[in-house]
Amino acid sequence: MRERVLVAGSTGYLGRFMIKELKERGYWIKALCRNKEKIQLVGHYVDELFIAKATNPDTLNGLCRGIDCVFSSLGITKQKEGFTYMDVDYQANRNILDQALAERVSKFIYVSVLNADKIKHLQIVKAKERFCEELRGSDVEYLIIRPNGFFSDIGQVFKMAQRGTVYLLGSGEYPGNPIHGQDLAQACVDHLDLASGEVDIGGPEILSQNEIAAQAFEVLGKKEKILHFPLLAAKLFLKVIRSVTSVKTYGPLEFFLTVLTMDMIAPRYGTHTIRQYFTELRNGKAM
Ligand SMILES: NC(=O)c1ccc[n+]([C@@H]2O[C@H](COP(=O)([O-])OP(=O)(O)OC[C@H]3O[C@@H](n4cnc5c(N)ncnc54)[C@H](OP(=O)(O)O)[C@@H]3O)[C@@H](O)[C@H]2O)c1
Repeated sequence: MRERVLVAGSTGYLGRFMIKELKERGYWIKALCRNKEKIQLVGHYVDELFIAKATNPDTLNGLCRGIDCVFSSLGITKQKEGFTYMDVDYQANRNILDQALAERVSKFIYVSVLNADKIKHLQIVKAKERFCEELRGSDVEYLIIRPNGFFSDIGQVFKMAQRGTVYLLGSGEYPGNPIHGQDLAQACVDHLDLASGEVDIGGPEILSQNEIAAQAFEVLGKKEKILHFPLLAAKLFLKVIRSVTSVKTYGPLEFFLTVLTMDMIAPRYGTHTIRQYFTELRNGKAM
């Protein structure tokens, strides 16, 4: 059993579940974070806090001292701070890997995205996969986790339903099995001792986007209203924003517009259903 784990991305949706899961399974945890306030929710599970900016390698000296395994879910999702995906998803993770290699850490686990080979033209995927390539080519044993969409993002469908209308792209019939952060964290810890490789991870239920939207309305007790935005219009929109905005603006949009118009199915893990999650959101109890 690997005993001392560094969690990077510790203040994020997945990182928080990861810290809780690792603690419950008896691991010693160091958390990398840049803002002490943000780790409060899970701070009591953390054995050592390392406050630093992963984008600035000068602040990372000693980060991996005494560490057996690094887990990184560090990346840009909604942060709007002027950093690009290359600065964070690639370079900040590269900075952490350099520390791990210097301290001869025995394993590095990195969270990328599902189906990266089909969407490698997207800016976020380019940055993540550049890091994956360097991780594979390094001396450290590695594991690349490729998860499906997180429930935290599916929460957007619930918010639209609360406002009265859910907007979907195309037919809304693309199937997928998004995953709850707790289920994903459990699956990540289950795979901690796996030999070097890559693993796709999805949630327990395969649903179309129409079915997910219908469940949101059902949980809210509201009349279903789903508007389907034509695919061609979405493609044109993407073309325009790519030419008039920077990657910081169009990057997240191109990612979501693309993954929402393809089948996203991964091996099934976990037990949390979307209906349960929507019910927790309705009751103000979702993590
Ligand atoms: N959401 C999805 O559906 C999905 C699906 C597949 C894969 N993924 C990938 O899984 C990973 C984790 O996702 P998540 O939902 O847990 O993300 P999240 O909640 O946004 O957390 C991201 C983490 O990265 C850190 N971070 C972001 N920008 C940073 C910067 N400039 N410098 C230092 N740290 C920075 C954040 O720190 P702060 O709290 O300080 O900002 C946070 O700890 C991401 O790489 C994401 O791309 C997500």
